[in-house]
Amino acid sequence: MFTVDRKDFGPGFTFGAATAAYQIEGGQRDGRGPSIWDSFSATPGNVKNADTGAIACNHYELWPQDLDLIRDAGLDAYRFSFAWPRLLPEGTGAVNQAGVDFYDRLIDGMLERGIAPYATLYHWDLPSALQDRGGWMNRDIAGWFADYAALVAQKFGDRLQATATINEPWCVAFLSHYLGIHAPGYRDMRAAARAMHHVLFAHGTAIDALRANGARNLGIVLNLEKAEAASDAPEDIAAMNMGDAIFNRWYLGGVLKGAYPEEVTAWLGDHLPANYQNDMAVVSRPLDWLGINYYTRSLYRAPTTPGGHVVEQVKGDLEKTDIGWEIYPKGLSDLLVRVSREYTKIPLYVTENGMAEVEGDDDPRRVRYYDEHLQAVLAARAEGADVRGYFAWSLLDNYEWAEGYEKRFGLVHVDYQTQKRTPKASYRAFQGMLHNTR
Ligand code: FCB
Repeated sequence: MFTVDRKDFGPGFTFGAATAAYQIEGGQRDGRGPSIWDSFSATPGNVKNADTGAIACNHYELWPQDLDLIRDAGLDAYRFSFAWPRLLPEGTGAVNQAGVDFYDRLIDGMLERGIAPYATLYHWDLPSALQDRGGWMNRDIAGWFADYAALVAQKFGDRLQATATINEPWCVAFLSHYLGIHAPGYRDMRAAARAMHHVLFAHGTAIDALRANGARNLGIVLNLEKAEAASDAPEDIAAMNMGDAIFNRWYLGGVLKGAYPEEVTAWLGDHLPANYQNDMAVVSRPLDWLGINYYTRSLYRAPTTPGGHVVEQVKGDLEKTDIGWEIYPKGLSDLLVRVSREYTKIPLYVTENGMAEVEGDDDPRRVRYYDEHLQAVLAARAEGADVRGYFAWSLLDNYEWAEGYEKRFGLVHVDYQTQKRTPKASYRAFQGMLHNTR
């Protein structure tokens, strides 16, 4: 049971659950093209247990029961992502009609059940054919992505409640091209610098394409972590500021103010694309809402190893989830208030929040995690942040990227042998809060 109540959030507040195509769909057939996660996960050493998304939760076939679960929880909305290679197997050019048909069924299925569709265009499954041409390192991706956005707007825009361009551009750029942890697995500063700019430039060209083709209610989803210093020492505070600039302010500043933090442009130097400044008006196109994914804080200290990364992170001593992330609800309030004071007055949505927990249907720690973070949303609203909705990550246990299937984030347990879904106590807690109020 939660201590918070739906009434505390007022009428019009949206409660939803989130997923992403590669993490749940499976269904790698009927014309779906390969994505960078297929080849990355097929390469030994990249993903725990060599797990891949080939079958995942088989949402491709089992979506009707998954939508029933959303409806039966009393949730208002479903945040899902389109698989670019299911719609455009080569990334550009020929459309895969079977892919269009799948998303038609899925979206109509939501509407039939009274669930509002919140779509994401890109949640990391880049068509391999575009990676062959340089992927996010190639400026041309702004055109490829805009064409794909136009297609989505034309086929589905009339039925979507809201559309986000990119999920977590820090992960698309830095985690995947500098830290090498996600596909395509580069560890290269120039690759990262180019991806950091191109992902936001492509976001802007996609916003233009969506609008030109009649899609409404457009945004982007940023992952933010509350940056804190490991100590009061000035070097650690400087490290915190640099960490905050690379992780948070690059994206907030670019998208909402049309300017990147100077310490980061100085650090990236010549690796940035030439004349990137000319693109900043596109990067910062006006948006209708901003999505924030929040999981934890980051604790920074000054580099201790010569030749090491520009900042270092240390493990804090707060209680941790099963994936090792500290539980820190206050960070969510602080970030929501900061964004609304320093960056924008457009409506904010918590588009992901949740925790990994050991396998099982009884998940009291997760119930508490959600309750405390919902309280944090209320606290931010009390301080003036215009938060309009909250999406739990995730509806189902699913493919947790480089962690494979071991880390479980679902409100609903998935038995990967049988594909049986079993609601957990956290699902019941949402149901208890939301029931009969839709
Ligand atoms: C976010 C991702 C999502 C999921 C959660 C745990 O960074 O957007 O796909 O992996 O973390």
